[in-house]
Amino acid sequence: MTNNNMYFVANWKMHGNTNDIERSKSIIKISKLKKFKNHKIIYCPPYTLLKTFFDKVKKSRIFVGAQNTHPGTEFGPFTGSINSKLIKATGAKYIIIGHSENRKLGDTNFIINKKIKSALKEKLKVIFCIGEKYSERKKKITNLVLKKQITKGLIGIKKNENIIISYEPIWSIGTGLIPTNVELKKNINFIRKILNSLKASKKMKILYGGSVNPVNAKQLAEISEINGFLIGGASLNSKKFIDIIKKTIN
Ligand code: PGA
Repeated sequence: MTNNNMYFVANWKMHGNTNDIERSKSIIKISKLKKFKNHKIIYCPPYTLLKTFFDKVKKSRIFVGAQNTHPGTEFGPFTGSINSKLIKATGAKYIIIGHSENRKLGDTNFIINKKIKSALKEKLKVIFCIGEKYSERKKKITNLVLKKQITKGLIGIKKNENIIISYEPIWSIGTGLIPTNVELKKNINFIRKILNSLKASKKMKILYGGSVNPVNAKQLAEISEINGFLIGGASLNSKKFIDIIKKTIN
C-alpha cells in the first residue's frame, strides 16, 4: 500500500533553464489537488535557478532545494563556492548532500558530515544520500557500507528531525536498473535499524533514488517502508515526473 505522505524530489543535476521552470506549471496544479495534500514535491535545480524557481512556486505547495553546499558555515574566500547561508537566501528549504556524483568528486563522509551540520545550522532540511557501489553489492558488503555512511555522516548530530535519508544504490543511478522489491525492502529496513540505533526519530523519512520512472514507480511504491523518491533523469520531463507521481499516489 502506498504511503500517505510521499516525497517526490526532482534532482535536475546539471540541467535546466528558465523555460524548464515554466513547465513546472502542470506540477503546481497537481500539488494543489486535495488528494495531494499530504504529499510533497521538492524541486532541486542548479544553484543558478534556485531564486527564479522559488519565486515561481512560492505561492504553491512546491518546495525548492539545492543539490550541494560548501561545508563552511561563514562567508569567506572560497572562489566559486556556495554555502548554506547563500542557499537559504534564495528561498530554498532543502538541500541534497552526499550524492554519489559528489562523493565521486571527493566528498568524504567527513566532508559530508560538515556539510550536513552547516545546512542544519541554517535550518535547511537535508536530503542525505547514501548507497553502495555495484562492486560492494557483489562483495555482499552493502550493509557495512550503508552503516559507515550513515554513522559517519551523522556524527555529532543530535537533533536530526530535519534529515531525510535517500537510499540510492550507485549501480542504479542513471542505468535503468533497480533493485528487486525484496532487496530494496531489506536494505531500507537495515537503514531504519541503524537510524534506530542512533536514536533517530522514528518519523525520519527514507526515500529511494535510482532510475525511478513511470514504468517502475508503481512497483517501487508497493514497498510501504519507502517514503518517497529522488528522481533524476525522469524529473527533467514534466510529463514523466507527473506520471511517476500519479502512479505512486493513485
Ligand atoms: P536517476 O538519478 O533517476 O537519473 O537514476 C537518481 C539520482 O540522482 O539519485
